Amino acid sequence: MSLVSIPGNPLTGTVSLPGDKSISHRAALFAALSSGECEVKNFLVAGVTQVMLEALSELGIAWSLDGTSLQVQGAGLYRTFAGSDPIRLDCGNSGTSMRLLAGAVAALGLPAILDGSDRLRSRPMKRIVQPMQKMGVDIRSSPEGTAPLSISARPIDRKLNPIDYILPVASAQVKTCLLLTALAADGETILTEPGPSRDHTERMLRAMGAKIESQSKPTYGSGRERFETRFCPPNPLELQAFDLVLPGDFSSAAFLIVAAIIIPGSQITLQRVGLNPTRIGLLDVLQAMGANIKILNKYESCGEILGDLHVHYSGLDGTRVSGSTVVRMIDEFPVFAVAAAHARGQTVVSDAQELRHKESDRIHDLCCELRRLGADIEETRDGFVINGGNRLIGGKVTSYGDHRLAMALAVAGLSTELPVEIEGAGVLSESFPQFGQTMVNLGADIRFN
Ligand code: S3P
Repeated sequence: MSLVSIPGNPLTGTVSLPGDKSISHRAALFAALSSGECEVKNFLVAGVTQVMLEALSELGIAWSLDGTSLQVQGAGLYRTFAGSDPIRLDCGNSGTSMRLLAGAVAALGLPAILDGSDRLRSRPMKRIVQPMQKMGVDIRSSPEGTAPLSISARPIDRKLNPIDYILPVASAQVKTCLLLTALAADGETILTEPGPSRDHTERMLRAMGAKIESQSKPTYGSGRERFETRFCPPNPLELQAFDLVLPGDFSSAAFLIVAAIIIPGSQITLQRVGLNPTRIGLLDVLQAMGANIKILNKYESCGEILGDLHVHYSGLDGTRVSGSTVVRMIDEFPVFAVAAAHARGQTVVSDAQELRHKESDRIHDLCCELRRLGADIEETRDGFVINGGNRLIGGKVTSYGDHRLAMALAVAGLSTELPVEIEGAGVLSESFPQFGQTMVNLGADIRFN
């Protein structure tokens, strides 16, 4: 399926967004591990969460979906496995599903094979396999350290080893995988990260009655901080069931925010968006570049912060993005590059080599496609440099099978000289199936072929 963005129309109006992708993954999986019935409202119904729900069915969990309300019957942390073949879990294109499910399966002691798309098979899994092996999990990857992953059964009375481990790369997926694995350890696990990866897992585990501490610590001399998480499995080994209303996904809101900023005459309000500080690096950076974005009606619900965002068309100045800000906006670089292409002067992104391991190579593929639209953007080893301020021309581009690249290019096409056609845009239903309709409701001219 291709999508055509036709430039010209300002965006106006008020919309709310589907539930947060990261929290939806966790809510479904953690509910399955809880000791009761859970209800999750405003659950994200999309490609990647469907993969998680189907995996839960394979694990024998009962769930039902009524619109965007998910009910899950938790089966607790003690499971018995009667079969002789490992459970096969197809993680599709979802790195979050694969890494989180690996941790849960290891904690439950179930035998499983986790596999997925060709792209998922090329993404790095050594980062979970090595520390899980240190904890005593019998997990194997391909010789290249990639999926498929196979995990052997473990008798439930054989505990795993707690670890004190430094993650080479800040990653909430890796951290969550290891925290889930640590549910079966006989002591305290300490994880140290070089950056502030998203903390939804910690917030949700706390809401389920677990004790988990997080703090940032300065590393003397280097000028850098490190981020430490300490976790002891609850005793008795039980996680309380919960009812939850999920915030709108800030990462989906990001496309609407940037669209409103770059299209003259736009003025939009986004309601009940998740504003967890580990997620909103893009907001801070855009505001520092001169964007007129106001946060209204801020409140807290189930451990997460939410609020409404009021966004106006604004002039932007180029900037530099590096260090921990990169971690706090890791999923927003495709659409941030579109904003930077509209900013006066140069924008430099560095310390962002992790972008090469996402649903596409979000340095190389992003630069290629934006250049095709007329942007002055150069790839570097760990980021990109954009000389902004000239109107993009338009043309035909491709999504590389990456939902966020597809939506970023669609946003770019709303303020080019000529329309932009994006091939392979159907992939956007992986995380934001309502993207096209939401944009149209705000006045954008977007068509699907
Ligand atoms: C996610 C964490 C991020 C992000 C991904 C979702 C999560 O990955 O890119 O879309 O839900 O934990 P890393 O933390 O591995 O960078």
